Amino acid sequence: MKHKVITNLLIERIATEGKCLGYHEGKVVFVSKVAPGDVVDVRITKGKSSFMEGEVVHFHSYAKERVEPFCAHFGTCGGCKWQHITYELQKDYKRQQVVDQFERIAKVPIPKVAPLLGSAKTQYYRNKLDFTFSNSRWLTREEIDSEQAFERNALGFHIPKMFDKIIDIEHCYLQDGLSNACRNSLRTFAREKGISFYDIRNQVGLLRNLIIRTTSTDQTMVIVQFGENDPESILMIMDFLKATFPEITSLLYVINTKGNETFHDLDLITFSGLPYIEEEMEGLRFRIGPKSFYQTNSDQAYELYKVVRDQAQLKGDEVVYDLYTGTGTIANFVAKQAKQVIGVEYVPAAIEDAKLNSQLNGIENTLFYAGDMKDILTEEFIASHARPDLIITDPPRAGMDEKVIQMLLRIAAPTIVYVSCNPATQARDLALLGERYAVEQIQPVDMFPQTYHVENVVRLTIKP
Ligand SMILES: C[S@@+](CC[C@H](N)C(=O)[O-])C[C@H]1O[C@@H](n2cnc3c(N)ncnc32)[C@H](O)[C@@H]1O
Repeated sequence: MKHKVITNLLIERIATEGKCLGYHEGKVVFVSKVAPGDVVDVRITKGKSSFMEGEVVHFHSYAKERVEPFCAHFGTCGGCKWQHITYELQKDYKRQQVVDQFERIAKVPIPKVAPLLGSAKTQYYRNKLDFTFSNSRWLTREEIDSEQAFERNALGFHIPKMFDKIIDIEHCYLQDGLSNACRNSLRTFAREKGISFYDIRNQVGLLRNLIIRTTSTDQTMVIVQFGENDPESILMIMDFLKATFPEITSLLYVINTKGNETFHDLDLITFSGLPYIEEEMEGLRFRIGPKSFYQTNSDQAYELYKVVRDQAQLKGDEVVYDLYTGTGTIANFVAKQAKQVIGVEYVPAAIEDAKLNSQLNGIENTLFYAGDMKDILTEEFIASHARPDLIITDPPRAGMDEKVIQMLLRIAAPTIVYVSCNPATQARDLALLGERYAVEQIQPVDMFPQTYHVENVVRLTIKP
């Protein structure tokens, strides 16, 4: 089947991970970059006994509900892949994904999945973007065919599945504030001054990465990552940013000569301003350092936490465990309504932030522990703390380790509120938790408009 072209395939519906599907001779065909209702010719790129995958070679007609993508980088850039679908439909599709995964994988009785809680902002909703410098700009087919010489230094995002190719971003609709201006003027300045952009293959070059973080309180953190130690050029670049963008409240840099871009193990230098920014939620302050995690859509994070709090139904005398607590944002958010909250998280620096955030807000009924969940959450741990009345769990995309699920079944807290950014692994975990728990409420929340991602909150109660 591979390379065969299937003609006039009707795209029937959205499948997982943003792909859509149609049927050919009884077999499912998964296709990217289409919308339900499109009729297309598809070249098969993968043929298995039970399904096929393909790419569009020709559109015969477009779905009626399609809208014009707003971004010039649509189709090449890996972000905002659903711009061609109206937001109303995006919301329906996201909710349907939860329904499908729960029916297909969880196989436990479920109540009606609530309508997805949409995001008021469908553009400029991210508080953090990470841009990569590269001396290997992604060229369009027209540019290659023209055989002219082009500027190859770029600052933007990785092309999906190509680690060394970067699309040069002119305008990104994901982050507000000075994000677009800061990225573009730094790129222009660096090109004019002949400063080297990073060569990802050979791992040389000065300018490596630019991170911009913003808050709803109008604070901005800018971090420049350098691939070499060239003090004179570094000073020139940092001085340029400081003078051009006095709005930056936290300007930092890091020299990273390692093979990877992560800087958790490196020292960051505060060039000007404070070494952190602060987010605010219902009067609570959350300090965000350059290495701290914070939900990337601040407005929707607040909506998500309110859903968690509603599902938790706390009265004030409960002991709450907040598993996978990150920087303790949920723990601190619900602390006022509980007797005690205990947060557990893998990353020690995040636990330090969680403790600091409790302190900053005068919260005295939280305790935080760092370590792998399956090692921390043991019978001894439960015995040395109060047994939980409520467990909030918010694991990474991979879901919970089976050992952790078995422990939750033994703890048998009356209620669990399970927050997930991946309904497939959440459904898998619910299949196991279903042994002792009933699903009472399901509320999907949209944290990332224009993408297929969906967050989902489930309230579970112990069976009598
Ligand atoms: C989805 S985030 C939770 C975010 C947090 N609840 C919030 O709203 O900011 C998942 C967290 O789980 C942590 N994590 C991942 N694997 C872990 C493990 N095996 N044990 C403990 N924590 C883990 C990650 O470091 C991350 O902070």
